Amino acid sequence: MIKADMNEPENWWPRQSHLRRQIASKYTKGVTGFLEHELESLPVLEDAIRVHAPEQIVEFGTGVGGLTLFLHELDKDRPLYTFDKKVMWNPHPKIKRYVGVVLGRGCKEAMKELHDTAFNECVVFDSDCDLLIKEQEHVVERLKIKKRTFLYCDNGKKYREFTMYAKYLKSGDMLGVHDWKSEISFDMEGVAELMLQFKPHPFNAFFIKNRLRTRLFIKE
Ligand SMILES: C[S@@+](CC[C@H](N)C(=O)[O-])C[C@H]1O[C@@H](n2cnc3c(N)ncnc32)[C@H](O)[C@@H]1O
Repeated sequence: MIKADMNEPENWWPRQSHLRRQIASKYTKGVTGFLEHELESLPVLEDAIRVHAPEQIVEFGTGVGGLTLFLHELDKDRPLYTFDKKVMWNPHPKIKRYVGVVLGRGCKEAMKELHDTAFNECVVFDSDCDLLIKEQEHVVERLKIKKRTFLYCDNGKKYREFTMYAKYLKSGDMLGVHDWKSEISFDMEGVAELMLQFKPHPFNAFFIKNRLRTRLFIKE
């Protein structure tokens, strides 16, 4: 029996959302971040994080920092570690174009503005960390640390970061993933086996009903 699969309806598919959005800083007037998420999922993600009350957040896939901004502003005093192999100093041309259009400036400028205005020292960027080329020891150590942790996976190959790193979470830690059923699903290599260690979060019902790509799980 695959525990975490139990609530997933058969033939479920995410809706074709426009994922490239901007988000305004709650605290820094006039500052916006760019993110690749459905905005409707954010209040539910926020509630789940409030209930879980993690002592640290680990984000895989910083992108241009929009989701990092969202996660940081839920509690500006909570440590947040965000990993990416290159961040968006040199992004895919498609993203670069979107950021230019959406934010009216380049990725580099957008990231610099966030760095300079909206983030504090609780946000630690590791922008030169290829998570998949090998198991990164410092990332594993971060996940194993005795602090209630929320790990959110949104980099390039979700099923691989899932199977490489989520096993290091401790009992009670929360795991989140984006692009459910478009980039990761139970039938992908190693995912079903890993999911035996997790139970689905009750808030998944909202994501499923609204055909959103976020999923949350709690380590048993
Ligand atoms: C979809 S974007 C992240 C978007 C961000 N979470 C948001 O919503 O704004 C995916 C990111 O994963 C990063 N990435 C892809 N493969 C990676 C790898 N092997 N290691 C680390 N980061 C990777 C890319 O550089 C890119 O910035």
